[in-house]
Amino acid sequence: MCGIVAYLGEKKAYPIIIEGLKRLEYRGYDSAGIALLNGKMQVLKKKGKVSELENHASEQLENYDYSMGIGHTRWATHGVPNDVNAHPHTSNDGNISIIHNGIIENYDSIKKALIEKGHVFHSDTDTEVLAHLIGEIQKTEKLPLEEVVRLALKKCVGAYAIVVMDQNDPGKLVGAKFSSPLVLGIGDDEFFLASDASPIIKYTNKVIYLNDGEIVTIKRGKGYCIKNLSNETQNPKVSELDLKLEEIEKGGYDHFMLKEIFQQPTTVATSMKGRINSKEGWAILGGMKPNIARIAKSDRIILTACGTSWHSAMIGEYLLEDLARIPTEVEYASEFRYRNPIIKENDFIVALSQSGETADTLAAIKMAKAKGAYLYGIVNAVGSSIARETDSGSYIHAGPEIGVASTKAFTGQSTILALMALYLGHHKGLIEETYFRKLLAELESVPSKITKILAKDDHIKYIAGEIKNASNALYLGRGYNFPVALEGALKLKEISYIHAEGYPAAEMKHGPIALIDMYMPVIVLATNKSAYEKIVSNIQEVKARKGIVIAIVTEGDEIIKEIADFIIEIPEIEEPLTPLLSVIPMQLLAYHIAVMRGCHIDQPRNLAKSVTVE
Ligand code: G6P
Repeated sequence: MCGIVAYLGEKKAYPIIIEGLKRLEYRGYDSAGIALLNGKMQVLKKKGKVSELENHASEQLENYDYSMGIGHTRWATHGVPNDVNAHPHTSNDGNISIIHNGIIENYDSIKKALIEKGHVFHSDTDTEVLAHLIGEIQKTEKLPLEEVVRLALKKCVGAYAIVVMDQNDPGKLVGAKFSSPLVLGIGDDEFFLASDASPIIKYTNKVIYLNDGEIVTIKRGKGYCIKNLSNETQNPKVSELDLKLEEIEKGGYDHFMLKEIFQQPTTVATSMKGRINSKEGWAILGGMKPNIARIAKSDRIILTACGTSWHSAMIGEYLLEDLARIPTEVEYASEFRYRNPIIKENDFIVALSQSGETADTLAAIKMAKAKGAYLYGIVNAVGSSIARETDSGSYIHAGPEIGVASTKAFTGQSTILALMALYLGHHKGLIEETYFRKLLAELESVPSKITKILAKDDHIKYIAGEIKNASNALYLGRGYNFPVALEGALKLKEISYIHAEGYPAAEMKHGPIALIDMYMPVIVLATNKSAYEKIVSNIQEVKARKGIVIAIVTEGDEIIKEIADFIIEIPEIEEPLTPLLSVIPMQLLAYHIAVMRGCHIDQPRNLAKSVTVE
């Protein structure tokens, strides 16, 4: 989704903003733009990549001597991706420029009123309407920019992170946030505003995560001031970033996605750190500890999320019902928030999100909070909105995930869910001690077992080459492997653009079997001990129709080896922990197929990393 970078300081703004926009490219975008101010404002916008904006700037920019500016990557919502719809947008008189992430829902009525006043619009965007509204209020009220922005925002309904610059009020930037993220970076005599910390970390580790309804004013030589929409001064908390520049660089890998797949032995170990000890026989989540008695007595657990996080939530459902015996439901956040769900005081609601900014997940928990539920977050991005909105939670500590297709966040979330189920089940006295310790030891062994699977990368790449030209693919799994089948299909769709479906293996007979012919690769997750014979039968059914079977099996499996076209062996593990291993070949298979098809791995078409609009 849209990315925001703004700079005000002593350095040259242009290279800082361009570099910042490149750091935000991973969020997904289709055009980019920049406005620079040094006495006079210059606005440059271009459809396509930031590099195209740079080429355009090398021809158009009058000089590079600007010490303040705003930059934007746009993911189209209102109006097609083109130069005109790209941000920044300017006010009717051209004095004010604005960049925006979010949607102004009542833009149409505001636009009509402004047209009646003689405003002329050039783009199809809601953002240009906000630029004109700010300009109109400034013209009539003659107030400082921050005050004008506040009055304009009070008329808006929707979501926004914005930064505003006025060429008649140089040396000042005004930023504001509601539902979309905005971070203020505080350096020595310089300030940054950005959608996340990645454009800031090179210059300072001091940041303030703005809260909804806050407006920040930065003045050259005078510092910053944060007020709310009621014009009351706020006392913000300055946080120190625990992020290193290397973490947001490729580190020798061809793509961020590959780096993140290969990081998983480390990230899964980090997710568990201090939370498990098989020798002493405990698993604990600090966020749950103070309320463990209350959580253990929950009538129901509701897990809510979107995308890949929704798939790990499904694994959570299997784990929590299996080990902690608490009825668990999994809800798409976008459906949950709008379908008038029954939420009781004794429900435990868990939101899962890599970014911590997904608009639907955020709105779902706000709705649940309003109904009195206790909220828990399983989040990767530290300081993100969902992390702050929930009553407590567990960070997965996977480090920044930059590839749009989520990988290490999935295994991190699944690790936390396994710990949650073990902690609750043990607290309730439901797991027999020997089995409990066995599961703890098995969970601790996951990082080294992932390393063993990663060592099979060449074999997986070979299989990828054999099926890379397919137009469709089917992923089948039973029990704990069913959510992995869904995730495997999603990975392939996202980055290779091959149509893929995940199905419970037994359900194949009820429809998808009609699709199977000699061109159809069928990826079967066949590591289950329970229902092993059933899954063997499912493989036979596929082979009987000449489908190409790629089976993920437990090391030493001799039966499926004889039937499948290709096998990928993974180490043996207790069934509830299987997804942490069986997903790795899914990720590598999708990755290699997409590379062979020449796709954009880290920024697949149309997708966004952090979906901050509904
Ligand atoms: C987008 C991303 C997915 C992600 C989903 C949920 O669609 O492309 O990779 O799984 O959002 O994001 P979240 O940050 O809430 O986990």
